[in-house]
Amino acid sequence: MTETAPSKATMEKIVSLCQRRGFIFPSSEIYGGLSSCWDYGPLGVELKRNIKEAWWQALVRERDDIVGLDASIMMHPKTWEASGHIKGFADPLVECKSCHLRWRADELKDTRCPSCGGELTEPRMFNLMFKTFMGPVEEEASTIYLRPETAQGIFVNFENVLNTTRKRLPFGIAQMGKAFRNEITTGNFIFRSREFEQMELEFFIKPGTDDEWFNYWVEERLNWYTKLGIRRENLRLHKHAKEELAHYALSCTDIDYQFPMGWAELEGIANRGDFDLVQHSTFSGKNLNYFDEESKQHIVPHIIEPSGGVDRAALAFLCDAYDEDIAEGEPRVLLHLHPTLAPIKVAILPLSRKEKPAELAKKIYADLRQCWTATYDDAQSIGRRYRRQDEIGTPFCVTIDFQSLEDEQVTIRDRDSLKQIRVPISELKNTLAAKLSGEALFVLPPGGKIWKE
Ligand code: GAP
Repeated sequence: MTETAPSKATMEKIVSLCQRRGFIFPSSEIYGGLSSCWDYGPLGVELKRNIKEAWWQALVRERDDIVGLDASIMMHPKTWEASGHIKGFADPLVECKSCHLRWRADELKDTRCPSCGGELTEPRMFNLMFKTFMGPVEEEASTIYLRPETAQGIFVNFENVLNTTRKRLPFGIAQMGKAFRNEITTGNFIFRSREFEQMELEFFIKPGTDDEWFNYWVEERLNWYTKLGIRRENLRLHKHAKEELAHYALSCTDIDYQFPMGWAELEGIANRGDFDLVQHSTFSGKNLNYFDEESKQHIVPHIIEPSGGVDRAALAFLCDAYDEDIAEGEPRVLLHLHPTLAPIKVAILPLSRKEKPAELAKKIYADLRQCWTATYDDAQSIGRRYRRQDEIGTPFCVTIDFQSLEDEQVTIRDRDSLKQIRVPISELKNTLAAKLSGEALFVLPPGGKIWKE
């Protein structure tokens, strides 16, 4: 049994676990790292893929009213004129006259430099888009931008999707992918970086149904996080005041998470009205409207946009899952990650390296990895091996012992409760599938028994 010693994830603990176990490393670390860029290691990449897969499953695969898209990162420069990013996507920047550090003026509490107390310059607006050049000539005419949000790739494809899928309102287009912002202040690990991934849905609706769909999507997105294990008390809704709204938004509600550094935005749900389709119609000369069969009129749909960050979601899932307790008299660190998100679903641990049990364990490993991310570990004591799996959030460990050779049974150990069951090898796959989908551990397959309460 475990005695739960209440503990809270600190950013230091999360960063240390991520680096120690191969979730997340500083980018280009051998060269001293690159400010606010991060590399996802072997476990981090699995976690991130699982988050994206869960989002895609819930928004695209399980619904008839949403389709997917994967637009290019580099877009026609006119896109950013139409979207308002060239003119309006800027933060006020001030520079310290002594140490030359740069700060966002709107985030400063004082009129002096927070680092050295020096005098600050007057604020000037600093555009957050990364510029580059397309083709061999570095001239104004070939300037393009790395997209600062994935949303615009959706708006410019509205007509393509409408014509090829014959979707009727209300319907959505979902996309996830990299976005880039030359943020003035970054930090808090992967919370705010200059290269990150977004998961965005643009949901096109009939004008006048805005409130209904806005509330629907706030609820849906909250439920997505809680179903995947985030505690409701660590989430809150923050409705934007008029002066907080982005240039395109009629209204916006953030889903905030209680990160170790405090409450901060995890995802935003915005009502973008007809801003984007009108702007792109004006700038492209294409009529991006919709013929409404009911009213027999051409209308410009309104857009409700739930927009979340993959990296912020990863950080929130890690923080919420982090725990420390005492297991069998020893302190342990564990991640209570939801099985859907856990980088490794099952670890196969032979109790002996001797030929016969090892052979059986390897056979089981080969079989299980056809279905799930699995790992095989025969190094050090079983206690230490369990701890290693607990620390990376592996929900189940399967142990193979000498008795397994005779009774053709193995034990399954549950990460959170430490309870164990013993099941016939022939029932192992079905049993694990059921437990990974949420079935209680002590619901036993034919021939199974409780091993350790
Ligand atoms: N299309 C709307 C849009 O981009 P946003 O609030 O600027 O809205 C949406 O960004 C989400 O993208 C945020 O809620 C956050 O999760 C993520 N995000 C934004 N900037 C980020 C950054 N610099 N680093 C990591 N994630 C970021």
